[in-house]
Amino acid sequence: MIKLTNLTKKYGSFTAVNAINLDVPRGELFGFLGPNGAGKTTTLRMIAGILRPTGGTVEIGGVDISANPIAAKSKLGFIPDRPFIYEKLTGAEFLRFVAGLYNQEGPRIEHRARELLALFDLEEWRDELVESYSHGMRQKLIISSAFVHRPEVIVVDEPMVGLDPKAARILKDLFREYTKRGHTIMMSTHTLEVAQTLCDRIAIIQGGVIRAQGTMAELRADAEAGATGLEDIFLKLTGENAARALVDVLDA
Ligand SMILES: Nc1ncnc2c1ncn2[C@@H]1O[C@H](COP(=O)(O)OP(=O)(O)OP(=O)(O)O)[C@@H](O)[C@H]1O
Ligand SMILES: [Mg+2]
Repeated sequence: MIKLTNLTKKYGSFTAVNAINLDVPRGELFGFLGPNGAGKTTTLRMIAGILRPTGGTVEIGGVDISANPIAAKSKLGFIPDRPFIYEKLTGAEFLRFVAGLYNQEGPRIEHRARELLALFDLEEWRDELVESYSHGMRQKLIISSAFVHRPEVIVVDEPMVGLDPKAARILKDLFREYTKRGHTIMMSTHTLEVAQTLCDRIAIIQGGVIRAQGTMAELRADAEAGATGLEDIFLKLTGENAARALVDVLDA
């Protein structure tokens, strides 16, 4: 459902994403992990069609996003890490606005918007301006906006940031249920526990290159012996053991 072939992004002479290949089948909840600056956001923005690749292709449901952007994007919902919301719209108006971008309107959209806002405890805020929303409330509204037009594929950059435990739990359940019904979700996260318990498969990117991908069991086999949890696997694959070295320096 999401197919990346030799996908590359250069910023000037710096290669942020280096010829990556990924294939996320329909119905999968796919986790995209990697250290800060690894290339996750760059990759997700290319998949969402808001950043032009330097090379390679992105296909959404078999449609090349560069060759046929409208058809590919109509299948997509995107939850960015730093979302933009018009402050002078109410929550309900914002959801209506986003659905409108996908040429959808009417009672079905109104019903879905109502249900999504209720799910995230935002019912009482639906007619309040977004400028009065807290950080977490905005995040919940953005998440709702990716579901309101019921896209086949949802691409999410760090969805858990700023959510309270109840909202985080609801989001996990929503992702799980949505993929169970044949939709596809690709999410980046730094919350390894979420990736480990929620995702069908995981890819770990570092320095713009995919270091490992597969199910938890496959990743375990990839990492050196003794790594069982995702944190061990992640740290072994990305080779991060800097904290101890730093404290050694501080102690010296
Ligand atoms: N607009 C830009 N111009 C130049 N370099 C950029 C730009 N955007 C990102 N980069 C660089 O590309 C690399 C990958 O950045 P990216 O935002 O994709 O990382 P990330 O994996 O999402 O990291 P994080 O976990 O911190 O969100 C980084 O080295 C970053 O400095
Ligand atoms: Mg990022």
